[in-house]
Amino acid sequence: ITSALGRRSVVLVGMMGAGKSTIGRRLAARLRLPFLDADIEIEAAAGMSIPDIFETHGEPHFRDGEARVIARLLDSGPAVIATGGGAFMREETRNRIRDKAISIWLQADVEIIMKRVRRRADRPLLQTEDPTATVSRLLEAREPVYRTADLIILSRDVPHDRIVDECIDAL
Ligand code: S3P
Repeated sequence: ITSALGRRSVVLVGMMGAGKSTIGRRLAARLRLPFLDADIEIEAAAGMSIPDIFETHGEPHFRDGEARVIARLLDSGPAVIATGGGAFMREETRNRIRDKAISIWLQADVEIIMKRVRRRADRPLLQTEDPTATVSRLLEAREPVYRTADLIILSRDVPHDRIVDECIDAL
């Protein structure tokens, strides 16, 4: 596998709650590659949490920082990289990912996403009156772009290792 990937990274894209971080960490261990989580790297670079970045500086500022951090992670050598749900929407970031990595869209439906994000209050985009409607709307807008990833894996309620196996088979 590692030789088929060459020097390329694996980048996980898709909605919040699709399992990018969980699957990414396990996939990295199986591929013996470092695991990098873009959200965590952004928080480290900014010295504050993502909700605080949104609140203090606004979403456009967050998106610029996100693009810079992902560019840096892609340049840091082969790794498995989990990206935030909005990162792949930026053309510049998509081009960089295409250049240096194989992208996997972890596709999840609204029901699964809601089940997973409800437990946490750290998604500023979901601080709305009707988070389910917000997720549906975001998913609808983003799906055509996520679909352009190199590989598509359905994230559903099965043991994580099964999803990881499917990623490895697809790579
Ligand atoms: C976002 C997803 C979040 C985080 C930020 C914005 C989005 O990452 O980057 O809250 O636009 O979908 P996860 O997909 O890791 O939750």
